[in-house]
Formats: sequence, C-alpha cells, structure tokens
Amino acid sequence: MLKRHLPMAGHTRGNRLPITCELKCGNACSHEAPNTSGNTHFRDVANAAISRRAALGLGGGLAAAVVVGATALQKAPEAVAANGFHPTGGGKLPFEAIAPVERTVDTVTVPAGYDWAPIIRWGDPLFDDSPEFDLENQTGASQAKQFGYNSDYLDVFSDGGNDRTGFLVNSHEYTNENIMFSPEYLKSNPKDVIEAAIEAHGLSIVDLRRGGKGQKWEYVRGGRRNRRITGSTLFTVDGPAAGADLLKTKDDTTGTKVLGTLNNCAGGTTPWGTVLSGEENFNQYFVGTGAEAERRIGITPGPSSRRWETVDPRFNLNNEGYANEANRFGWIVEIDPEDPTSTPVKHTALGRFKHEAGTAVISRDGHAVVYSGDDERNDYAYKFVSRQKYRKGDKKHNMTLLTEGTLYVAQFNGNSPESEIDGSGDVPSDGDFDGWGRWIPLVKNDKSLVPGFTVEEVLVNTRLAADTVNATAMDRPEDFETNPVTGKVYMALTNNSQRAAGGLHEANPIPGNRDGHVIEMIERRGDHTAERFNWNILFLAGDPGQDGNHAYFDGVPLDQVSPISCPDNLAFDSEGNLWVSTDGQPGTIGYCDALHKVTLEGRDRGLVEQFLAVPADAETCGPVIHDQDNSVFVAVQHPGEGGAWGAHTSYFPDFVPEGPLKGDKVAVPRPAIVQVYSTTGNNGR
Ligand code: FEO
Ligand code: CA
Ligand code: CA
Repeated sequence: MLKRHLPMAGHTRGNRLPITCELKCGNACSHEAPNTSGNTHFRDVANAAISRRAALGLGGGLAAAVVVGATALQKAPEAVAANGFHPTGGGKLPFEAIAPVERTVDTVTVPAGYDWAPIIRWGDPLFDDSPEFDLENQTGASQAKQFGYNSDYLDVFSDGGNDRTGFLVNSHEYTNENIMFSPEYLKSNPKDVIEAAIEAHGLSIVDLRRGGKGQKWEYVRGGRRNRRITGSTLFTVDGPAAGADLLKTKDDTTGTKVLGTLNNCAGGTTPWGTVLSGEENFNQYFVGTGAEAERRIGITPGPSSRRWETVDPRFNLNNEGYANEANRFGWIVEIDPEDPTSTPVKHTALGRFKHEAGTAVISRDGHAVVYSGDDERNDYAYKFVSRQKYRKGDKKHNMTLLTEGTLYVAQFNGNSPESEIDGSGDVPSDGDFDGWGRWIPLVKNDKSLVPGFTVEEVLVNTRLAADTVNATAMDRPEDFETNPVTGKVYMALTNNSQRAAGGLHEANPIPGNRDGHVIEMIERRGDHTAERFNWNILFLAGDPGQDGNHAYFDGVPLDQVSPISCPDNLAFDSEGNLWVSTDGQPGTIGYCDALHKVTLEGRDRGLVEQFLAVPADAETCGPVIHDQDNSVFVAVQHPGEGGAWGAHTSYFPDFVPEGPLKGDKVAVPRPAIVQVYSTTGNNGR
C-alpha cells in the first residue's frame, strides 16, 4: 500500500478537527452542555463514609467483587453464537504492539505478520441495477443503491457451517459534503447534494464471500441480503410511546410510522440475530422552536447546519404540522438483516436521547437487557430490561422483547473520601477509583415512575425525566459492551471538556477530562437485571510520555502501555480481552486514531497494546474481533475530514493521485470497511 506523509498545516493539538465537530455532532462541544439539572456534581458523595463492605453487602470488599465476577457471572454464549464464532478458549490473535502513528500518516498501519484490505467503500454499487460510483453525478437515487458514507457500527457474520459466505451490517453516521462533492457540483446541484446526503445516511447490509476460513472477504454485488436503509426508509414505531400525541405529525397522524433513521452511530448485534443501531446526534438536522425539551436535547432555532429543511419541510419544527418531527428520532432502532423485506422498528421503550449504541445480552433468567450511553458531556448511562423472556430459536418472539420493560438510568457512588478525588489522577488511598451504583427505574412496562411525567413524556424526553432522579452526569458515555467470558460490563467515557474541577467525583475524577476513561461494572450477583452494581475505573486514558496527563492503567507500569486517548467503541475477542477503538487521538495526543487490545484478567490486567492505526483524520469505528478466524475488522470513518476538495489530507483507500473522479478508484477519501488478516496462518485453530 502506498503510504503518504502529509504536512501538519492547519492542525493543532488539543482540538478535534473543527469540521468533524460541525458535521458529526453539530458542534455539541462548542455549546454549553445541555444538562443544567445540577446532577453534574453528584452532590451526595456522602457515601464516601460508607464502607465498601456495607455498601455492597459483601464480606470481602474488592476481593469479593472479583470472585463474583470470576465465578458467578453468567456467560452469554448466544451473543457470540449470533456472529457464527463460538469461543472455545483457544482463540489467538498474537501480535506485537505497534508504535503510535503520527497523525498525518495516510494508511492503515498493522502489526508485523498482518496485512489489510478494504472490503467495501463509500459509493460501491450494492445491486445489479445500481449506478456505478460517479462523483460528478451523485444523486439521491444513485446513492440509495450504493454503500453509504461514514461507516460506524459494524458486524461481520459467517453463514452457519459455511466459511465461504456471510454478510456484514454497517451504519452510516453522517456526511461531509465538502469532500464528497466538488465545489461546482455543490453550487449547481444543491438539491441532488442534499438528497444524496439523506440517502448516504442509515445502514447497509451486504453479502460477503471468500475462498475459505481465514481468508479475505469480498462483497457480493446483487447479494440476496443486500439492502440500504437510509434517511427516507419507512420505520414502524413500537413500545409505550407509539401512537402518542408527541410522535404525531401531519404526515403521520398515527404516531407510528417514521421516514428515515439519522446519525446512526454505534450499535449492537442481539442474541437473536438482529442489529440495534443508536440514533445519536439527530438534533442537528432540525430547525427548532426554542422549546425547553428541544434545548435539553440540543435542538436550536435558526437554520440547521445541513439545511435539509430547504428540501423537506419536516426538518423545520416551526412548519405547521411538524412540531413533533424531531421526537421521531433519537431512538434505538432494530433491523433484521437476514430479511431484506422486513420493516425496521424504532423502540420507544428504550428511551429517547443521543444513543451511542445498544448492547443486548440475555440475563441468567432469560430477560433481554440492553445497555446504552447518552453521548453528551454530563449526560447519563441507561439500561433496559425486557418484561418478556428470550426464547431460544424463536426470532419472531425475540423481536418483540424490546417493546416493553423497565428503563433505568445509572447513579454512580464513590467509596473514597471526596478529598482524595483531587483531580490529580492519583489513585485514592483504598487503591481504586471505585464504588457501587444504582439503576434507578424511570418506566416500568407502561407506567411512569417519574413524578410529574407521563410514560410518553419519560420516553420522549428521557433526559428531562432522568434529571429529576439524581442520575450521575458522566464524561460522555459512548459504547457499552458485555464480556462474553465473565459477564462484566464495560463503558467507554470518551472525554468531557466541561468536567469542572468542582464537579469531580470518583467515577469521573479528571477535570476537563481530555483523554477519557473506561469503567468496569459488575452487576450484583452477576445478574444483568440487578438494580445494584459495583464499578471501578479500568483505566484513565492518556499518553504517559506527555506532560500533564493523568494516565492510569490499573497498576501496569506506564512505560509498558500504548498511548491511548478518547475511547469510543468497544469489542471483545473470544478469550474475553477488551478491544478499544478511539475517536480523537489526533487532536489530543497527536497520533492517528487506533484500535487497542486491553487485557482484563490476571497479572497483566490494564495492559493496553495498540493493534492498528487508521489513516489521517479518520476515526476507528466498529471493531469486530474474529480471533479464531485470523481477522479484525474496522470501519474507517471520516478519513481526510480536515481536507478540502483539491487539497485532500487522505486518499484512503484508493490512493490514486488527484484527478480521476469516475471509475472504481477515485482521488478522494472514501470511508470504508477494512479487514486486517494474519499472513502467517490460522492462529485460532
Ligand atoms: Fe457517534 Fe458518540 O460517537
Ligand atoms: Ca475508591
Ligand atoms: Ca462513537
């Protein structure tokens, strides 16, 4: 692969690319954090006086917690089985950590003994009748039949018992028209540009084939499962808020049918084989009215940054009949990737906020449990527990599990004195940033448990409801993931520029938290339905080689870890190692975003080892670890985002010189799915 080293012009440390901030999340971080409830400071750290033993009802403090985690927590074998890859304990993906990669390097960097290849890129035709990718003539109609933009959530499935066929599911979070279209096309074809952008959002389901186990996948044009779900696809709405007045518009007087899904960030594959996707920064697509509920979710008056309201009146909430249109976004959506004719669903039972992802697991007694973070500075972490139980092999029934249940928001309590949470990053005297937590119920089935809120109001304006119950304001909760070996739960907190020194607490202990951290949660008795949990900080991210960082890796010597910043998406391998992808390292520690393996158990717990780096300006998304199949997959999102037409900062993955705009390879950056594979044999066998 051609490597390019591009100049640092225009880049400064300490900031995400301004264009990424604008397009990805509507400059969320340049505004005041919308949580003004006062929960930020978590006023009752009075529990510092409560002994851990008393708080947990345990006999042996941390030691007991570890025993619970190691022995009593239930495995979730079907969650892995859904991928077609069953852990045997023998999986191996050996590698020597790579050095961090300077932020302007425009290639995928992988360890010795591995190589990489793109599987599918933005614009690749999915159907027999799809137009070829043609940068000079992209329209909504053509984009609707091509792979979408800015790939995020990813899963890769092999068909049961057949190593040669499979499929992938990938979400497309947002668009960057400035590097998708020439200035001339932007000016002369504004309607085509917006319609193409709407169709470049959503998800893609794409059939795959390969020669055999451990080999490279390629995508199948015209595959039987190939499908685009976009910003205009019909969804149905279910759950307690379906049909509520708050969801009705002039186009849908039933409040049960929505066109499109937006800003689909991370997600999760359910144990019953469907895919969940989080509608995250949907606020930025709408012109607001100034209502308080809109403010709390980040919708503001004035022209939207994307100007979709200029081609479709529903994106302006001031237009008659569309006041509730934005209430129809911000949900967890569920898609059956194996049935291209199925209608995807928006699940109101899981609440409405900036869902980063939805991670489903089956509890010991058979309930479906979905963890989901609300990715905003000083917002909350949630979980949902289904009323009904999972039935093995009954997909039709299992696809009703997320229609009714209990929605909880998390409260984290520290167990060290407030004086020891001093912003230095120094570990408290009891040896851990840790404590216990409560899951506070907001809705149980069709009943609101929040005084003053109807069930519809809790589910549609979930942040406002959670504000009233003393939930803990976190440092931007991103992905959750459950460990398929131990059952422990992990949450990435990516950063928080508004974690004020006066608002520190043990679960968010760093002022202006630049580099983020990862929290490990152990549900009481190892039961995912429990209403109490223990927690500890697995690591405080940072570059130990740089001054002023707060890096802490559960005791691992700092000279042995890879620098890491802004943890975002999480994944597991078959042995229960955590893999952490990053979103923002270029702006914080000066390196390309990365994928790191983190050891969780044993002597090396906390050891961070960098596996790969993505190209210039890109973010690492959707890691999928098929260690028994020699492969790691990532979605390379927003490569070259800091560039401009004619002055690109990335040419990934085609790497052709400036010029060609037609054909299979073009001289613009293209978000793409990448397979990293071992070149030295099938280690997992
Ligand atoms: Fe789309 Fe929170 O990352
Ligand atoms: Ca502590
Ligand atoms: Ca993310």
